[in-house]
Amino acid sequence: MSQYQTMLAAEWEALLNAAVDAIVVIDEDGRIITFNRSAERMFGYGAADVLGRDVAILMPETDGSQHEGYLQRYLSTREPRVIGIGREVEGVRRDGVKFPIALSIGESNSDRGRHFVGIIRDLTAQREQEQRARSLESRLAHAGRVNLMGEMAAGIAHEINQPLSAIATYAQAAKRLLQRNPIDAGKLAEVCHKIDEQALRAGQVIEDLRRFLRKQEVDARALDINALIEDVRLLTEADSRAQAIPIRFEYGSGLPRVRADAGGLQQVVLNLTRNAVDAMANLPSKDRGIDVRTRIGSAGRVEVAVSDHGHGVSAELGATIFHPFVSTKKDGLGVGLAVSQSIVQSCGGALSYRNNPDGGATFVVSLPPINEVELIQ
Ligand SMILES: Nc1ncnc2c1ncn2[C@@H]1O[C@H](COP(=O)(O)OP(=O)(O)OP(=O)(O)O)[C@@H](O)[C@H]1O
Ligand SMILES: [Mg+2]
Repeated sequence: MSQYQTMLAAEWEALLNAAVDAIVVIDEDGRIITFNRSAERMFGYGAADVLGRDVAILMPETDGSQHEGYLQRYLSTREPRVIGIGREVEGVRRDGVKFPIALSIGESNSDRGRHFVGIIRDLTAQREQEQRARSLESRLAHAGRVNLMGEMAAGIAHEINQPLSAIATYAQAAKRLLQRNPIDAGKLAEVCHKIDEQALRAGQVIEDLRRFLRKQEVDARALDINALIEDVRLLTEADSRAQAIPIRFEYGSGLPRVRADAGGLQQVVLNLTRNAVDAMANLPSKDRGIDVRTRIGSAGRVEVAVSDHGHGVSAELGATIFHPFVSTKKDGLGVGLAVSQSIVQSCGGALSYRNNPDGGATFVVSLPPINEVELIQ
């Protein structure tokens, strides 16, 4: 071997052992011929333990037993499944514990035969972090939902109580009508009809509430934002009416559909209207009410704007209002906007706000329209 080649071999060795990723080289028969330091650390074997052994020992049993077949199939068909593509699979440590890995494979062909070089990254830490973020997010979302319903309970209870007491009054009237002689059937029918109407109204509020809490699975491929808001209109009205704040809805026409989680977006609308109610609750300006509007915004995006005439967002708060647990309210958890932002972002949209020139704040949800061509496919 020439001096030049020896140098290269030494450099190759240094390179191998300096690599953060595990590097495992196998021959055509799947036998391990190189196992670098990171591979030793990652899998818990010394190089001497594994050299010459089948690479299947680094894989879960099912993958390991199929590996030989994969390798042979590739050698005869040359159809790559992993080679040059890379994929996420599982590795097995010496102690038998499985762990997630990102695997990319390269191929070399020389006079020493055909070899496969596997570069392996341990994804354990990344997966744990993703898991933690997901569980935190869902805990936050749950806390936000329960809190929101708790705050809205007074309005909803009132909304159900009203038709219930009307029903009681009409029932008394019906009893009195029955005591008369002769019974006025026409009047009695009228009273029964009124009882029916009121029962339907109370039922509607309960149905809306139930649907919202169930987080209904509407076809998320094509959502009509106006219909989605209309479904929670009674709830928002109940909430704002309890504080004597008028709320108006103005639906833009010809809006493209959006791809989104319906229950999530309804929660966003409720969070924003709830905040608007809170911001106006004790102000004389509350007569000016809340406006919920939908329209087509820039770049064909679908926008939902909730405007109030409350105290507005103070400049010091700035963008921190979207951080979890930031609240200026005595009983606020400070999760409403954090949860709303993460829901909107998960639909590819954005949530922003501005203070209105004539007082109060406007929060805008902006969602990308569905590409209808994509839908047809
Ligand atoms: N429409 C608004 N007008 C003025 N300030 C607002 C408005 N909406 C939100 N804020 C400010 O942003 C803060 C954070 O809002 P967020 O909805 O995240 O939490 P919260 O309403 O305080 O509590 P939670 O929603 O968890 O019950 C509020 O405490 C308030 O200071
Ligand atoms: Mg809130």
